[in-house]
Amino acid sequence: MVYEQLASAGSSAGGAVTGPDEAAITAAGLEKRYGKTAALRGASFQAKAGAVTALLGPNGAGKTTMIRILSTLLRSDAGTARVGGYDVAREPERVQAIIGLTGQSLSVDGKLSGPENLAMVGRLHRLPWPVVRARSARLIEAFGLGEAGKKAVKTYSGGMRRKLDLALSLIAEPPVLFLDEPTTGLDPSSRHALWDIIRGLVTQGTTVLLTTQQLAEADALASSIAFIDAGQVVATGTPAELKARAGQAQLDLIAATDADLARLTSALGGFTVARDGQRRAVRVALASNGTTGIGELSAITAAVAGTGARIERFWMHEPDLDDVYFQLTGHSRPAGPEDAA
Ligand SMILES: Nc1ncnc2c1ncn2[C@@H]1O[C@H](COP(=O)(O)OP(=O)(O)OP(=O)(O)O)[C@@H](O)[C@H]1O
Ligand SMILES: [Mg+2]
Repeated sequence: MVYEQLASAGSSAGGAVTGPDEAAITAAGLEKRYGKTAALRGASFQAKAGAVTALLGPNGAGKTTMIRILSTLLRSDAGTARVGGYDVAREPERVQAIIGLTGQSLSVDGKLSGPENLAMVGRLHRLPWPVVRARSARLIEAFGLGEAGKKAVKTYSGGMRRKLDLALSLIAEPPVLFLDEPTTGLDPSSRHALWDIIRGLVTQGTTVLLTTQQLAEADALASSIAFIDAGQVVATGTPAELKARAGQAQLDLIAATDADLARLTSALGGFTVARDGQRRAVRVALASNGTTGIGELSAITAAVAGTGARIERFWMHEPDLDDVYFQLTGHSRPAGPEDAA
């Protein structure tokens, strides 16, 4: 299912770093090995204060390793990292005082209910009772941990545990939050509830570093993205900047037969065309958008109609973060909206 490039207008993956005005998190040249595995190989990026930055990349790229170093759970072999101005290696206690991290289930008492655990953790953070009560009530409501949540946590389902884990990392409302795949295993309503909570916290000035494999989630939440691949940050920018670098809109057409496919590809010779013979698919790239793009689209559809080729399906596709991912990781995206995440 790989497109064979027939003509190319050329588009390139960029690697420019957007310079944040105020960095709450700075990683510079971080290296980390686990035995023979180099998990981080000189990874550098910055996350702006009071904003969501998404750390994206393939499985095994080094995202969790990065978050563990930034949250002082792990020491890097080389490089430096600062969180809220504090060096993670030299001032870990100061860093710990200002961060929250998902994956705190270790602090959960299985015999207590969710609300009881929240109250316990709130008190451990020395929050006044009224604050604990108000925040617990909000989080319990947002995650639907009310009635069902009153059971002992050891009887919770996987998703309920995940939600409680998130609520526990959110109750203290720390200035810097590390969320490593926070929505994995959450149902859609809980996912949206978490997004709303994150947006609310960011409005109040919280800095969030998020990892996710749902790139649409990063697009919805993050104002800045760092792509990491094989232990190195390979691209940074706003979602819009990265998508613009991933190219222009494309029109995909599925021909009814091989003969129709041949007709289509020869009729579209004047455009930037790629073909996937296996799926009888033709992808035509639009060189521009706006009015010029519409003109181009009309020319393409006229050329297609002129061939008399039978078309089974067609659709337009605008670059999204999945395209950025495929471009940066050197893979080509499979054809079809059904393959989109
Ligand atoms: N404790 C460990 N011991 C040995 N190797 C490890 C350990 N933790 C991570 N690694 C390796 O380090 C590399 C980076 O792993 P990491 O967990 O940081 O990736 P990730 O980007 O978070 O991936 P995912 O998307 O799957 O969560 C991988 O090759 C992984 O196998
Ligand atoms: Mg991970």
